Amino acid sequence: MSEHPNNPQPQHRENPEPQEARHPIPYLLLAMIAMLLSWALGYLMAARPDADPALGDQRTLTKLTGEPSLASSSNSTPDGAQLYASHCLACHQSTGMGIPHVFPPLAGSQWVQGDARVLLQIPLHGIAGALDVAGQQYSGSMPAMGGQLDDGELAAITNYIRSHWGNTAEPVDVESVAAARALTKNRSTPWNGGAELQQFTQSLAGN
Ligand code: HEC
Repeated sequence: MSEHPNNPQPQHRENPEPQEARHPIPYLLLAMIAMLLSWALGYLMAARPDADPALGDQRTLTKLTGEPSLASSSNSTPDGAQLYASHCLACHQSTGMGIPHVFPPLAGSQWVQGDARVLLQIPLHGIAGALDVAGQQYSGSMPAMGGQLDDGELAAITNYIRSHWGNTAEPVDVESVAAARALTKNRSTPWNGGAELQQFTQSLAGN
């Protein structure tokens, strides 16, 4: 084979054969890994996953949901807005407008703003059947909640729905809730629509 400048021997233009050997990990890489690990550990130790996460605009979740902090919730009176949210809002909505033809509105309802002794019977025992609310006919069914809400809680919810969405009716106190509960303490079935509530209203008029 003749030597020619434009045609070098293959050995000269190719890389050396790869060879197996122990190449130690560069110290720089080790140092970076160590730094990363210590940062991660520090982050984990500094993180407080059970704490209130601060949202982008500095409000906390507690402020948004309006839940009272643990410190203030003990021995305070029940919060009507919060009780409404957990027991009634799913059907009657946060606007108090309900859902047309399905869940009647509490806003502008004659039941909500009428005699509190009658109004209280609705959450106490539930109601099912034809019911006229603000000029609309409904025929749904609402479960009884007298067992799960005590008098104080019922008073708070009642006062909330009687004073929101444009409603302006007299507040009730815990004693009148207890009295309304006692009026129908032997009842175990839901009210049979507006007709039976009307009868109940008339029976009160005698007293
Ligand atoms: C599961 C859905 C549901 C929940 C939860 C619910 N309701 Fe109702 N509510 C209804 C339905 C349905 C009616 C109408 C029943 C009928 O047509 O006979 C009604 C009727 C009423 C009425 C009489 C009609 C009116 O709109 O004024 C009042 C007052 C009322 N609910 C208050 C409450 C309160 C207070 C709570 C929470 C403690 C509550 N409801 C929770 C479904 C619900």
